[in-house]
Amino acid sequence: MDLTLWQYQFRIIMLGDSTVGKSSLLKRYTEDTFLESINQTVGVDFHVHFLEVEPGVRVKLQFWDTAGQERFRSVTRSYYRNSVGGLLVFNLTNRASFEHIKDWHAEVCEWVQPHRVLFVLVGHKSDRDAPGERDVSKEEAEKLAGQLGVPYVEASAKTGHKVTEAFELLTRRVYQGLMSREVELREGWDGVKCSGPRALQLQRASLTRSAVTPKPSKKCCG
Ligand code: GTP
Ligand code: MG
Repeated sequence: MDLTLWQYQFRIIMLGDSTVGKSSLLKRYTEDTFLESINQTVGVDFHVHFLEVEPGVRVKLQFWDTAGQERFRSVTRSYYRNSVGGLLVFNLTNRASFEHIKDWHAEVCEWVQPHRVLFVLVGHKSDRDAPGERDVSKEEAEKLAGQLGVPYVEASAKTGHKVTEAFELLTRRVYQGLMSREVELREGWDGVKCSGPRALQLQRASLTRSAVTPKPSKKCCG
């Protein structure tokens, strides 16, 4: 089997404050490694990974790993619009990074209109769970996830705990959104690409439908 063959390509963006561990999460997922000293991201980095979402259906995941630092914001913003999925990441031991999640979510939702990004919220560095280290409780994080209408996962790039789960949850959420037409393909939007007869059929049906019935723009996303 040709491992580069795929039926769908999803563009996924990594979001959250600097040092919450976005690059480390991706490194654990795509290379199964962890570095104590990892370079801060400058602008945006790219990674590719393949996942079989059901027998015979391979998805090419194209990741955009953005820099959390404010000075890169004008660069990273330009990647929001062509993303179909986003991992919203905060550090469980850093309260400010949790409080900024609402801002990240709101900013992306505003920039991608009339498109929609599907999110998963990740409470990261779950290995640092000793008394006095954790600064955000699971209950608070679940409450925020409920308000934003997104699933919540606690993970650690250091130990590998729930890392694959977080990425697969997001991929499956996008795939289901695509199958149920919650995610619509539109001309000039690159969040999802299709390849192969079955996928191209879906693409044609979706593009015809959106050309006939333009949807009113959604205020927010989930
Ligand atoms: P920017 O690129 O500046 O936006 O930062 P980032 O969100 O990509 O964070 P990065 O992955 O560079 O990690 C920042 C620091 O956190 C590094 O020192 C990592 O080694 C550390 N780190 C990352 N993941 C974990 C984790 O799961 N547990 C612990 N304890 N430390 C982690
Ligand atoms: Mg980074």
